[in-house]
Formats: sequence, C-alpha cells, structure tokens
Amino acid sequence: MKNDITVYLFQTVSHSPKEVSQAAYCFVRQHIAEVTGSDPERLVFGRTGQGKPYIEKEGICFNLSHSGNTVAIAFSECEIGVDIEEVRPANLRIAERYFAESDRRYLALAADEQDKLNRFFALWTAKEAYLKRYGAGLSGGLDFSVADENGLLTRVASERFPPAGIFYRCLCGEDFGLHAPFHTASGSVRYILSVCADRTENVFLNMII
Ligand SMILES: CC(C)(COP(=O)(O)OP(=O)(O)OC[C@H]1O[C@@H](n2cnc3c(N)ncnc32)[C@H](O)[C@@H]1OP(=O)(O)O)[C@@H](O)C(=O)NCCC(=O)NCCS
Repeated sequence: MKNDITVYLFQTVSHSPKEVSQAAYCFVRQHIAEVTGSDPERLVFGRTGQGKPYIEKEGICFNLSHSGNTVAIAFSECEIGVDIEEVRPANLRIAERYFAESDRRYLALAADEQDKLNRFFALWTAKEAYLKRYGAGLSGGLDFSVADENGLLTRVASERFPPAGIFYRCLCGEDFGLHAPFHTASGSVRYILSVCADRTENVFLNMII
C-alpha cells in the first residue's frame, strides 16, 4: 500500500564508514531493482541540495542511517526519514542546550542513568528522522517537541515543517536472534530506531542476520 514502510536492518563485516555506506547503497540498488523489475545498473541516484539521496524515476523513496556497522534502510512510496543510534554514553548537555522544554521534562523523568540514555537516544533519533523526512540538515533546528511528560509523541511538527508521524523501536540482542554483535549481557536496549513519514501505521521491520 502507498503509505507502507519497510525497514531493513543489517550489519556489515567492515566498520569503515565508507564501506558501510557502499554496502547500504548496494542494498538499496538491488532492492529497488527487484521491486520495480528494473536493471540495477540502470538506476540513477541523485541528491537534493541538502544531501538527501533519492533514486530517479522509480516512484520509490528511501532513506538510510548507519551507526557503526549497523545499517537501517527504509523504503516507501512516500517521503521518509530514518535514524538508528547505538545507545551509548553521551553528553546529555546537548539536550539541555538544544532540545525543547517538553523533551527535557521527558528526559528528567528517567528512572535511572540507563533509562536516561534510552530516552535521550529516542528523542535524538526522532528529531533526526523528522528532519531527514524533510531532507533538512542541522539547519532544521532541534528545538521542536518530540515528547511530553506522557511519553514520546507519535506525531510531531516543528515551526519549519508540517506534522509527520514517528514510529519508534528499541532493539536488543534478541531482535537479532542473539547474533553476537548485538547481544548485550543484560539484554538491555542496544539500538534505537526512529522512522518518520506522513503516516506510519504500517511499518514492517526485517532483520537480516
Ligand atoms: C547529514 C545527516 C542527516 C547525517 O546524520 P547522521 O546521524 O550523522 O548519519 P546517519 O547515518 O543517520 O545518516 C546518514 C545518511 O543520511 C542520508 N542523508 C544525508 N543528508 C540527508 C538529508 N539532508 N536528509 C535526509 N537524509 C540525508 C544519507 O543517505 C546519509 O548516508 P550516506 O552519507 O552514506 O549517503 C546529519 O548530519 C544531519 O544534518 N542531520 C540532521 C538532523 C540533525 O540535526 N540531527 C541531530 C539530532 S539531535
């Protein structure tokens, strides 16, 4: 269906950013060729002025994100943005300085340090996915709300861009069948993924392990 979103997640053997990016584009090319019945070699990639990649003429949108050697690629017939982050120690002063007050309140309600990091990366990935949906970079500003004291918002809007839906997913070792690199001893959240599109009710996640 037109608004369905399919997300593929996988890890590359190489950790080199260049090779991770190449593997992602190779996947995009193969997938779109398969779905549209086109010759993969004839697909042409373009980039907007702000760097958002797209594929010409095929009527399929994609967006991708990498965190280390982990790749998330979202496909849909409508414009989308995706961001994946490994939950890791982070400087939370970024939130105090740049996030909206309601996001900071959501962060302040964290039960412990681990919960705070999970919340921070949920906020972060939601902001990135939203900005990437509209093809914006940092200039899009971060001070729009993606949460309030009741939790993460599933529909967000900024002063610059129209409202759009956000889908969140926390990933841990079990999501990847305990594939070694994803496994954490505590079984805690290891990655947070956010996807943004005008409507996000049908999101299909595919882990390639
Ligand atoms: C360019 C930018 C989108 C990259 O984000 P990142 O978290 O460093 O990296 P990600 O792995 O998530 O995304 C990188 C991919 O996004 C895509 N991308 C690049 N520019 C984009 C844009 N303007 N819009 C949408 N997607 C874009 C590319 O496919 C890129 O991969 P590639 O370099 O292999 O082609 C980022 O630097 C940026 O400006 N983000 C805007 C959102 C923002 O301000 N985030 C901070 C939130 S706290």
